[in-house]
Formats: sequence, structure tokens, C-alpha cells
Amino acid sequence: MDIGNNYNIDIHKMTDKDFEGAALLEKEIFLHGMNAMDFAKACAHEENIYTVACVDGCVAAYCTVTALYEDADLCNIAVAECYRHMHIGTVLLEETIRLCGKNGVKRIFLEVRESNSIAINFYKKMKFFEINRRKRYYKEPEEDALIMCRDIK
Ligand SMILES: CC(C)(COP(=O)(O)OP(=O)(O)OC[C@H]1O[C@@H](n2cnc3c(N)ncnc32)[C@H](O)[C@@H]1OP(=O)(O)O)[C@@H](O)C(=O)NCCC(=O)NCCS
Repeated sequence: MDIGNNYNIDIHKMTDKDFEGAALLEKEIFLHGMNAMDFAKACAHEENIYTVACVDGCVAAYCTVTALYEDADLCNIAVAECYRHMHIGTVLLEETIRLCGKNGVKRIFLEVRESNSIAINFYKKMKFFEINRRKRYYKEPEEDALIMCRDIK
């Protein structure tokens, strides 16, 4: 996959070196986010498959998944604004899905704000399809969630 500007990208499971960077990104992008301690606690549980994409050693994107037996929930994925639409999200999610498959996951679910058309396009491109809608699932601002799913072969 061609990644914009030929960045040197390192994709790996989130480790203690990445917690601060992931928390900074989370704070930049989301209103109520996880801090570094939250990431550290979450990564201590083996059902959580958390990954990062680093550019020059700095966290440029992260992805958080919780896997329970054959089902997994894609909790979040975020790419720093300056690295968006360069396929970093694609390679990060592909690697995270590969790790899920290795852990026996067969289906992966996610929720997304119905107004988040960029993320919805992204997920559709990643072979997720809409299966349901949850009314007023999100707050601040209140909004429906689309539930999407993808099988892992
Ligand atoms: C959604 C997000 C993770 C996508 O990551 P990304 O690295 O920018 O996406 P990619 O470059 O891998 O794009 C893959 C596909 O997604 C879609 N896409 C990505 N950016 C897009 C944009 N600005 N406009 C329209 N479609 C877009 C396209 O279909 C694209 O395929 P293409 O390159 O052939 O056009 C990123 O935009 C992001 O971090 N958004 C803010 C956080 C967020 O909303 N997360 C989801 C929470 S549910």
C-alpha cells in the first residue's frame, strides 16, 4: 500500500512508550478521551488489542479493540490530522484486524456517529457494512449511532 510522502511507519501493539502519545492524540481529537494511565490499564488486559502507527517514533495513529471470544468491538481509531487520508488508518486497521483473527475473532463490530461521513466511508472501504442503528446513542451532541460489522476470514 502506498503511504503518502513515503513516511517510515512502524505499526505495533501499543506499549508503555506509546501511552503518552496516544493520550495526546486522543485529547486533540475527542472530547472525553482516555489518558495515559487509562491506556496503560487497558493494555494490561489481554482481551484489549491496542495498536499504534508511529512516524519517526511518534504516535501518528492508534486503534483500540476489545475482543471477547469470537466477537470484537472496534472501540476507536484515530489518525493525527496532519497524517490523514494517506492510508495510515487503512494499514493500521488491517494489522489490528489481522491480530484479532490470530486471537480467534470471527466478527468485528463498531459504532460510528451517523454524521461522521469520513469515518463511514473509511469503514465501508475496509469492508464493514451497516447492520443496525442505535437511536440517540451519542451525547454532546446527541446523535444516532450506525452499527457496522465485518467478518474476519
Ligand atoms: C476515519 C480515519 C481514522 C481514517 O483514517 P485515514 O488514515 O485518514 O484514512 P485512509 O487514508 O486510510 O483512507 C481510506 C479510505 O477512507 C475514506 N476517506 C479517508 N479520508 C477521507 C476524506 N477526507 N474524505 C472522504 N473519504 C475519506 C476513503 O474511502 C479512503 O480511500 P481512498 O484513499 O481510496 O479515497 C481518520 O479520518 C480519523 O482519524 N478521523 C477522526 C477520528 C474518527 O472519526 N475516528 C472514527 C471514530 S468512530
